[in-house]
Amino acid sequence: MDKVEIFDTTLRDGEQVPGCKLGTNQKIEIAKELDLLGVDIIEAGFPISSPGDFQSVVDIAKVVKNARVCGLSRAVEKDIEYAGRALEKSKRGRIHTGLGTSDIHLKYKLRCTQEQMIERAIAAVKYAKSFQEDVEFYAEDAGRTDNEFLARVCEAVIKAGATVLNIPDTTGFCLPEEYGAKFKYLKENVKGIHHVTLSAHCHNDFGLATSNSISAVQNGARQIECTVNGIGERAGNTSLEEVVMIMKKKQSLPYYTDIVSERLKSISEIVIEQMGIVVQANKAIVGANAFAHSSGIHQDGVIKHRENYEIIDPKEIGAEKSLIVLTARSGRAALAFRSKELGVDLTKVALDQLYVKFLELADKKKEIFDEDLSILLEENKSLLRQTA
Ligand code: KIV
Ligand code: ZN
Repeated sequence: MDKVEIFDTTLRDGEQVPGCKLGTNQKIEIAKELDLLGVDIIEAGFPISSPGDFQSVVDIAKVVKNARVCGLSRAVEKDIEYAGRALEKSKRGRIHTGLGTSDIHLKYKLRCTQEQMIERAIAAVKYAKSFQEDVEFYAEDAGRTDNEFLARVCEAVIKAGATVLNIPDTTGFCLPEEYGAKFKYLKENVKGIHHVTLSAHCHNDFGLATSNSISAVQNGARQIECTVNGIGERAGNTSLEEVVMIMKKKQSLPYYTDIVSERLKSISEIVIEQMGIVVQANKAIVGANAFAHSSGIHQDGVIKHRENYEIIDPKEIGAEKSLIVLTARSGRAALAFRSKELGVDLTKVALDQLYVKFLELADKKKEIFDEDLSILLEENKSLLRQTA
């Protein structure tokens, strides 16, 4: 089994989302939780972006016990210097620096040639090395970069001292096969690649961030950059809880992480509360409905044996239990189950009688809650007694 390092960027890429900005104390609270969760690297911020973010990186570097703390910079001396200074007191710091490599970035953003881009990349890595031994280089928009040129960039920055190579699919444009093939190509064509860690950093514009990250791992990446609840620029980043649980549950993937999965639900809730972005009910792993069953067929199956319809035990992510939700699509098994939870053991005949009344109510309401069911049981007490 190979370890895949989890690089959490909730406090940097995640925090860039409009409305998600955090104060230093909030960032520290989340960083402590991330440390307890077992992430390997916390990208704590972008120190040159504001004095507040600089201070957050300084303070997080002081409080975090196990994770490495990372600061982002562009491939610009002043940025790198700020990141270096913010990490001065860290036990184990990392500077994350880089610039665009795709034709589109070279032509319309950086306005430089490929050779000039490589020179800037080398200079940035060398300068970052004067502050921190651990320097991660990001080839922004690597997803849309020609593999041959990307390989030349990677070789140059490895020679300059980069310890980690981040190959971001910045615009979320790659298909899993394409993104995986990129890592394979780099593994096979870049001198010195075996001395560095390859990192996947995916955005979710096509909803493929998780698939792409797993594909990268299958092709040589040993670090995944991700965020809690998948928050991040535009459609978001790779969702931490999704990649972690995939690697934990799929035996066909011989990889592990150091994440304490039982803390996934609580960190998800903390991030929702602090950042104010709710996750949709059907969000994998941490959504409100991730372990809720509402159709009669599924409910009957889950009541008989949870694994009929669940691939993860909710306890594994720190959620309480599977939920049997009562709606007009529910069957008798669910009604009997929920009634029993309220202390009423229904006979078969009583259940048949109550089920008719239940459906009448359920057709009028979206969901039947405990209060509704209690009233229904109370109202039909005499009927249930007769049929007991
Ligand atoms: O998406 C991206 O390319 C980034 C880099 C700054 C690493 O977030
Ligand atoms: Zn990003």
